[in-house]
Amino acid sequence: MKKESSEYYISEIKRLKAEKNAIILAHYYQTGDIQDIADFVGDSLALSQKAASNTADIILFAGVKFMAETAKILAPEKKVLLPDMMAGCSLADSCKPEDFERFLKENPGRTVISYVNTTAEIKALSDIICTSSNAIQIVESLPEDEKIIFAPDRNLGNYVLNKTGRDIVIWNGTCHVHEEFSLEAIINLKRENPDAKIIVHPECEMPVRLVADYIGSTSALLSFTKTDPGKTYIVATEAGIIHQMKKENPQKNYIPVPPRDSTCGCSECNFMKLITVKKIYDCLSSEKPEIFLDNEILLKARKPIIRMMEISEKLGL
Ligand code: 13P
Ligand code: SF4
Repeated sequence: MKKESSEYYISEIKRLKAEKNAIILAHYYQTGDIQDIADFVGDSLALSQKAASNTADIILFAGVKFMAETAKILAPEKKVLLPDMMAGCSLADSCKPEDFERFLKENPGRTVISYVNTTAEIKALSDIICTSSNAIQIVESLPEDEKIIFAPDRNLGNYVLNKTGRDIVIWNGTCHVHEEFSLEAIINLKRENPDAKIIVHPECEMPVRLVADYIGSTSALLSFTKTDPGKTYIVATEAGIIHQMKKENPQKNYIPVPPRDSTCGCSECNFMKLITVKKIYDCLSSEKPEIFLDNEILLKARKPIIRMMEISEKLGL
C-alpha cells in the first residue's frame, strides 16, 4: 500500500483507533469516505446520545465545532478531538453571547429553547436544548401557556411555531446552506421528475417548506426514503446525506437541490467539508486539536442538554 494514499490513511486510522481506544462519530453531512470509516454516523441528536454513552477514551468528532463541544459537555472525562478547529457553523456564529444576553433581557419571563447548533456559551444561557429531531416535542412538553424564546434558527423556529401554535419569540439566525436552496430549481426538478417527492430539512425557508412532501431532520429524511414506496426524491438538505440514502436504498434516485446563486449541482456546508480523511489521521496520531471548555460554562451548558436528553428519552426519541 502506497504511503500517504487514502488506503494508507484509512488503515492507519483503524490501527490508531484500536491502539488508543478511540471512536469516530460522524455527521451525515461529512463526505462519504469519512462516513464509511466512522464508528457511528448520525444526526445531531443521535450523535449527542452516542457521545454520552460509549466506552471509548477518545472521541474524534467528524463534524463541526458545536457538535464536538456538545460531546465534551456530555463526556467531560474523555478527550474530544476535532480535526479542524475552523469547522464552525454560520448558524452558531449568528448568535453571539453578548447579543443573546441583551435579547433575553428584552424578552424577559420566557423559557429559552436553543437549537444544538450554538456555542457552549449560548447553551449556558438556555433552559433546554433541542435538535431538529425533537424541537416540536420539546416545545410541546412545556405547559401550553409557557412563553418561549427559540434560538438561533429562524426557519426552524417558524416551523415549530406553525406546528405548535405556541407563544414563541424567535432569534433571527439562519444556516448558509439551508437558506440558499432555490425554489425555482425545486419547481423545475419536479417538472422534470413529476413522480419525485420533495423532502426538506426544517432549517429551509418557508417557500421551500411549503412545497415539501415531507419535512424532517436528516435522520427523519433518511428513514422516510427507506419506508416510503416512492422511487425518486428531490433532497433539500446538505448533499452529504445522499451517501447514506444511496447506501441504504441503492435502487432509488436522489436529486440534490442546488443553491440559488451557483452553477454547482448541489449544496454543501463548507464548514463540514473542512474535515478530510488526512486531517482525521493527523488528528488521531497527534491527539490535537482537542476541545477544551471553561469548566463553569461546561457545567452550565450541561443542564439544558441533559434536560433535552431526558425529555427525548421519555418520548422514545
Ligand atoms: P440535524 O443533524 O439535526 O438534522 O441538523 C442538521 C444540521 O444542520 C447540522 O448542522
Ligand atoms: Fe451549520 Fe448549516 Fe453547516 Fe449545519 S449545515 S453546520 S447548520 S452551517
